[in-house]
Amino acid sequence: MTIKHIFVVGAGTMGNGIAQVAATSGYQVICMDVQPAALEKAKAAIAKSTAKLLEKGTITAEGKASADAINYVSSYETASQADFIIEAATENPELKFKIFKELDMAAREGVILSTNTSSISITKIASITKRPDKVIGMHFMNPVPLMKLVEVIKGLATSEETLKETLALCKVMSKEAWEANDSPGFISNRILCPMINEAIFALQENVGTPEAIDAVMKLGMNHPMGPLTLADLIGLDVVLFIMEVLQRDLGEDKYRPAPLLRKMVDAGYLGRKSGRGFYQY
Ligand code: CAA
Repeated sequence: MTIKHIFVVGAGTMGNGIAQVAATSGYQVICMDVQPAALEKAKAAIAKSTAKLLEKGTITAEGKASADAINYVSSYETASQADFIIEAATENPELKFKIFKELDMAAREGVILSTNTSSISITKIASITKRPDKVIGMHFMNPVPLMKLVEVIKGLATSEETLKETLALCKVMSKEAWEANDSPGFISNRILCPMINEAIFALQENVGTPEAIDAVMKLGMNHPMGPLTLADLIGLDVVLFIMEVLQRDLGEDKYRPAPLLRKMVDAGYLGRKSGRGFYQY
């Protein structure tokens, strides 16, 4: 199928980044969110990001115009226009299952329904639909316009054809796709989140200050950001959710979330998005 129209569900940080990159890659994009305020925020974020990228020569004026032309909607009505769908709603299994039920009804037959989930089983999400062969994981990294990787995950029923089309789309979006199996956390979060969790244990046990922990990993291991800064970028609630999935689904205590992480989420200290995490914003 030739892909011209892409429908992105969710206008949060990941959704708006994905909508932006799809648009600057030449696709006609519809960005859907049930919250009008989220759409307004997404529009402003995309305008700011594309202005910066145009100034740097990373995208063309045509790409910026395409991003300016993104259609923002708050229902699934126009999903029937889409040739490919990318879901990037909040990381909540019940919500995702509900969305996939609705997308399955709204999208044309044969259209691929992909999900940007960072830890929920693709096989399980696919089972909610009548097209499990057309459901696939497309896990982008934050911030989407700057990060090269997309982790692509087949569920048990995902077809080879679906995989092929998804890999081709990643290429047009100038992303490097790597395949991972449908296992909790896939590759990225199986490795990243336990590292961040360990950094939080180290903080909790007073091994070092947040600044020292981040500096050691940045300067000593050449990570672009320290683990606590990165946790603030990802969202502490997201890190906690992923650790809970790893602990529950892999059944091992080594994935136990740090009590300090849980306490901070309880306090509403979620990182950059709430203005406070390990640092103040
Ligand atoms: N759009 C356009 N420009 C952006 C941008 C965006 N969304 N975000 C940042 N920039 C710009 C900045 O404004 C800055 O511009 P100037 O050079 O003009 O000042 C430039 O990009 C570089 O940014 P910074 O100077 O702030 O910092 P940096 O050089 O360290 O690069 C970074 C930023 C690419 C985010 C880098 O710090 C990095 O790679 N960090 C790690 C990110 C990471 O690990 N992401 C994965 C998270 S895990 C995940 O997403 C999956 C999951 O499921 C949890």
